[in-house]
Amino acid sequence: MGKRFEGRVTFVTGGGSGIGKGIAEAMAAEGAKVVAAGLTLVKTEEVAATIMAAGGEALGVSVDVADSESVKAAIGQAIDRFGRIDILVNNAGLSVGDTILDFDEAAWDRNLDVVLKGIYLCSREALPGMIERGSGVILNVGSVNGITGLGESAYSAAKAGMVNLTQNLAIHYGPKGVRANCIAPGTIRTPIWGARVEKEPQVFDNLAKVYPLGRVGEVSDVVPAALFLCSDDASWITGVTLPIDGGLTAGSFFINQLLQGG
Ligand SMILES: NC(=O)c1ccc[n+]([C@@H]2O[C@H](COP(=O)([O-])OP(=O)(O)OC[C@H]3O[C@@H](n4cnc5c(N)ncnc54)[C@H](O)[C@@H]3O)[C@@H](O)[C@H]2O)c1
Repeated sequence: MGKRFEGRVTFVTGGGSGIGKGIAEAMAAEGAKVVAAGLTLVKTEEVAATIMAAGGEALGVSVDVADSESVKAAIGQAIDRFGRIDILVNNAGLSVGDTILDFDEAAWDRNLDVVLKGIYLCSREALPGMIERGSGVILNVGSVNGITGLGESAYSAAKAGMVNLTQNLAIHYGPKGVRANCIAPGTIRTPIWGARVEKEPQVFDNLAKVYPLGRVGEVSDVVPAALFLCSDDASWITGVTLPIDGGLTAGSFFINQLLQGG
């Protein structure tokens, strides 16, 4: 495959681990200059170092996507270093609590602030330059939880909001040359599952049973679709939410199994 991102600058939030790290490293391998931005500077700097060791260009910065001043500063650092942001990957995320009686108001606010408001804050900083140049791409990393009821109420409500925000970004800024899309991964084996895996080491094997394709996902299942949507190969695709979920949201696997007497 050719280098689809040569000359492009990508800003990836939550770029120090998991899906964000995977996207950052793969885009750099295809020629992008990458800014990995995340809560933990040592992790984003590690990702940048890995990219540079492989001959790419990268910068690790710290950001709290829920904090407008922090976002301004991080986007400013990226522009100081590389002059522009062509591709914004809104990937930072966390999930606190399950049913609404499980968590307090502060947890609700943190979920909404990081997952949904974070996209608003980062997009607001990156868009003006994209509009000025007449081109840009925003990729929001949503979740199957934003498509159907799967638990984690606050996180899921925020991820559902992301689907609509993506559509509005697409209609508002399409005429300015900016595309906005969303991906909705199912269960992906990343550090976000750390605490759960510690409590329940078999969690991925258990979850695999609800996936028509018979397994949970890996970062490598998500990265090619993410890069496609960010590339010119997707130049007439905007406003979509693409499930990357082994068939989880295709229908009720369990009902189908019951009907088949399984
Ligand atoms: N792993 C899954 O099963 C799964 C499924 C669907 C969606 N997702 C989404 O994928 C995205 C990436 O998650 P992941 O699975 O790679 O897990 P991860 O924990 O490796 O990555 C999340 C990253 O976001 C960063 N982050 C958290 N809060 C932040 C903040 N306020 N500001 C900046 N950075 C912050 C974390 O430091 C971390 O690096 C998240 O948005 C998550 O909701 C994950």
